[in-house]
Amino acid sequence: MFTSQGPSLRELAVQALSSTERGYDLLAPTFDRTPFRTPDRILDACAEALRPYGAFRAGLDVCCGTGAGVEVLLPLCRKRVTGVDFSAGMLDVARANVAAPGAGPAVDWVRADARALPFTGAFDVAVSFGAFGHFLPSERPGLFGQVHRALRPGGLFAFPIGAPQPLTSPWYWAMLGFDAAMRVRNALWRPRFVMYYRTFPLAGVRADLERAGFAVDLLPLEEFGRRDDGSPHWRLVVARRA
Ligand SMILES: C[S@@+](CC[C@H](N)C(=O)[O-])C[C@H]1O[C@@H](n2cnc3c(N)ncnc32)[C@H](O)[C@@H]1O
Repeated sequence: MFTSQGPSLRELAVQALSSTERGYDLLAPTFDRTPFRTPDRILDACAEALRPYGAFRAGLDVCCGTGAGVEVLLPLCRKRVTGVDFSAGMLDVARANVAAPGAGPAVDWVRADARALPFTGAFDVAVSFGAFGHFLPSERPGLFGQVHRALRPGGLFAFPIGAPQPLTSPWYWAMLGFDAAMRVRNALWRPRFVMYYRTFPLAGVRADLERAGFAVDLLPLEEFGRRDDGSPHWRLVVARRA
């Protein structure tokens, strides 16, 4: 939910007319007071589902923003947790937000594009929250390939994925409308701001993960309940580098 301490409508409009990276630089100081930060409920459920796979040595939060996923990884990793993001503004807020626990893993922040990660075989686990809408479907194989390369053999790439909204839900139409508006905006205006809600379907994501060399498991996050057809509202995708 937006609050009075969050960004103003004017600030959001300026952000939306910038590039994705610059837009996040501008939004960074108020980001944690917007609905764009992944809610604690989702973070906690993912941490709980991931716990039996740990403990890990080193963890990576891809598109870390202000550090939501880094906080998930801290209790699960012994040695080091790294947040990577291309927005310097978001990384500044993350640095201020997240204190490395005294005796726990070291925390570091790296400014880099997730489509060109500067890591090879460095992590046992990678997570990502709330950022896949910033990648076009054609960029997905490259992105997954980058995460695959950043992991050690046997390493895990984990992220939550929501079930599609039914046609009867107002959210279905809101997301459809938002994506249509963004397509028009990006056809008419440069630089592009890439953000779409309906471009990350489970079947396509799974196929791209498998093509990148991952073996994929899907864990239902039962705390979010099930749809009428019995499928979970939310799942944790756990993809293991073969
Ligand atoms: C909606 S925020 C999510 C932040 C955080 N993971 C969370 O859940 O609260 C999306 C983040 O992805 C980052 N991002 C988008 N595209 C990126 C890219 N190509 N490379 C690195 N970071 C990117 C943005 O800078 C922003 O910090």
